[in-house]
Amino acid sequence: MICLDICSVIEKKKKGLALSGGEIDFFVKGYLDGSIQDCQASALLMAVCLKGMNEEETSALTFAIRNSGEIFDRSGISGIIADKHSTGGVGDKTSLIVAPTVASLGLKVFKMSGRGLGHTGGTADKLEAIEGFNVSLSRSEAEETVNRTGMCIITQNESFAPADKKLYALRDVTATVDSIPLIASSIMGKKLALGDDCIVLDVKAGSGAFMKNKDDAADLARLMVRAGKRAGRKITALITDMDKPLGNAIGNSLEVIEALDVLKGKGPGDLRKLSLELSAHMLRLAGYGDGDYCRRLAEDAIDSGKALEKFAETVEAQGGRKEMLFDVSLFPGAVVRHFVKAEKSGYIYHTDAEAYGNAAKVLGAGRQKLGDMIDLSAGITLKAKTGEFVEKGDIIAELHTSSNEKAEQAAVIIGSATRISDVRPDDCPLIIGKFGD
Ligand code: URA
Repeated sequence: MICLDICSVIEKKKKGLALSGGEIDFFVKGYLDGSIQDCQASALLMAVCLKGMNEEETSALTFAIRNSGEIFDRSGISGIIADKHSTGGVGDKTSLIVAPTVASLGLKVFKMSGRGLGHTGGTADKLEAIEGFNVSLSRSEAEETVNRTGMCIITQNESFAPADKKLYALRDVTATVDSIPLIASSIMGKKLALGDDCIVLDVKAGSGAFMKNKDDAADLARLMVRAGKRAGRKITALITDMDKPLGNAIGNSLEVIEALDVLKGKGPGDLRKLSLELSAHMLRLAGYGDGDYCRRLAEDAIDSGKALEKFAETVEAQGGRKEMLFDVSLFPGAVVRHFVKAEKSGYIYHTDAEAYGNAAKVLGAGRQKLGDMIDLSAGITLKAKTGEFVEKGDIIAELHTSSNEKAEQAAVIIGSATRISDVRPDDCPLIIGKFGD
């Protein structure tokens, strides 16, 4: 038997050498059982970020994550199971809209979502802004909820992909998120632990994404599509724009309220458009019809109120206070409100999404270190979007937080992240590319 030690595994990756499947399993098992410490895991993650992993190593890491917990026996769920997963963005609350939309049309959605990661928000944290909402259901509770209501959203737990839960939290606070193999294995490890028949991936590209350019986003998309296909799943990856925040709200409660707006037939156009597109691809993969027909089905589910009803049913089934969906004044507001104003007249030329995400973290919407509590009411409401004309002194963003000090720090970040110009920027498409089925 070969005897492994973590320092030589770190050393090997530090030199840019490929790790064997055995070494990757040893790392994942050891980190999960505590024999490998946070500092050692952080060192290896950083070495992976800097030196990369080939496709075999990425596949070994994906399977080690998948096998770290139970593999869901999908035979307990009747119907087609579909899921959608984003690689992470700023203001991206589409899961809260897409999941109930397709579930209201008969798909089964068993979704495993993460918490905030780096400068991006996480669906699990957002859902906890609804009083009582439990994202930590056991396997049998989750299965019962999916069968009863058609959907359920949980987070990585001791049953499913526990290694991802631990690695994800560590990556969040060690600047080791933006790595193609780490993102691909984290997402596909979770997806393959669940029994999804159809998977739609939203691979973000731009300043607010972990992939800053389209080529890297396309590499990540292709890698995940190949992993899904090898596992026999129907899978599509869309590359979508994340150069500017999606919608107008950033921060947990604010994002839930904005997702509810869309489910009520209102809300920002870009958010509605992307949610419809992702829903349509899930329905198409599940065999409901062609893209246009599926988009119309999704539109109808939202406009008729069916999707909102489905969301309310799920919130109730997962212990959440359903009344909050219909009376959003029940979401606790932040104690401090602060306005950021335009320093000159002109077009909003660029709103650097990563900086906006970091500003939201400063306001309290994300974690700075392992175990930090987040302020669910903290965040940013954009009052002027890229391409809009503002006069000097107009409000461009409203900040929600718990202290003036945090508001002032975030205002400085937002001020320098917002470029105002005499020239109107070119419109850039929301959907940039597509891979897979
Ligand atoms: N979403 C995940 O689940 N994992 C990542 O690494 C990034 C986004």
